[in-house]
Amino acid sequence: MAKKTIRDLEVTGKTALVRVDFNVPMKNGEITDDNRIRQALPTINALIEKNAKVVLFSHLGRVKTEEDKAGKSLKPVAEALSEQLVRPVKFVGYTRGIELETAITSMKAGDVLMFENTRFEDIDGKKESKNDPELGKYWASLGDVFVNDAFGTAHRAHASNVGIATHMDEVAAGLLVEKEIKFIGGAVSNPERPFYAILGGAKVSDKIGVISNLLDIADKVLIGGGMSYTFLKAQGYEIGKSLVEDDKLDLAKSLMEKGKDKLVFAEDFKLAKEFKNDTPIRIADRDDIQKDEEGLDIGPKSLELFQNLIKEAKTVVWNGPVGVFEFENFAQGTLGILEALASQKDTTTILGGGDSAAAAISLGYEDKITHISTGGGASLEYLEGKELPGIKIIDEIN
Ligand code: 3PG
Repeated sequence: MAKKTIRDLEVTGKTALVRVDFNVPMKNGEITDDNRIRQALPTINALIEKNAKVVLFSHLGRVKTEEDKAGKSLKPVAEALSEQLVRPVKFVGYTRGIELETAITSMKAGDVLMFENTRFEDIDGKKESKNDPELGKYWASLGDVFVNDAFGTAHRAHASNVGIATHMDEVAAGLLVEKEIKFIGGAVSNPERPFYAILGGAKVSDKIGVISNLLDIADKVLIGGGMSYTFLKAQGYEIGKSLVEDDKLDLAKSLMEKGKDKLVFAEDFKLAKEFKNDTPIRIADRDDIQKDEEGLDIGPKSLELFQNLIKEAKTVVWNGPVGVFEFENFAQGTLGILEALASQKDTTTILGGGDSAAAAISLGYEDKITHISTGGGASLEYLEGKELPGIKIIDEIN
């Protein structure tokens, strides 16, 4: 658990180097989901109020070659941030060099600067992603204190989070990292009970570690989404053309042995013969799936079962949609779970990042959920019980 936060820092007139995760989805140069930018505002505003000079940096996408740089500049992100902060954000289109250094030394207290995509350093020998010591040391030389607020990147040990921290005397967590630790870390270490987890998404293989760890911690683990069918097949049910990982049937069996009656599966499904929105739908129990059908959502009985369980929980962690929510006709399961979570006023409701988080935000549930994580891979690894290097380093330095 990271202890030191920006609240503990004296930063007046100092240059605060702040790693954020502005790896936001973009289409044709437009940001399609600015959640990660909005979630970083409390830290940035707090540092401005404390009269720091705020130097922000982040990665955006994966960059291996010169060609990969196209569309991966952080300039549009700096512009979006400037709008959110309602103050100028100076963008420097370099990751090192005299122009960047001069821009930083010319800053005044309260100024905000952002420099270019840290992964542009990956073109020449993966310096950022392989945590090249020279690069971390160089970035550390640009400021006085280091703040890590990039929870989404905390599962990586890169030069811009772990490397830089090892060369700084003062390191602290930002308010977003603090919030993620409080809710996700709190759920896996000391949840208020009953603690139920709802796990969905396409593949069992993506969530093996999470299911296994949560079976140790949670009081119940509810399974929905594409991964259900691998579990159903492992139990001997006909699953028709539904999504399945045949090489994970034994694993599904061993998770069922471990989980016993902690595991709760959907009892009925919305079935179709074609993978599309406008197609005839049949609702059937799990023992009545036909060979030419595939499951695209949980059915009404399962939704009621899941909703009733949500009502008795004090903590719920949800990761992964329970149906193909992108198709309106198969979104009811995912929406129904969101509604049930939203109406639980005395329950801590936590959404892991990724698709279920994006669904919650796009469907307007953002303010009705206790915490929606900004981490995809990071929140999964955290739920698996793994130590995240980007968080661990904050404790190690302090
Ligand atoms: C994410 O979006 O999960 C983080 O920003 C990490 O990105 P990466 O998987 O490219 O390291």
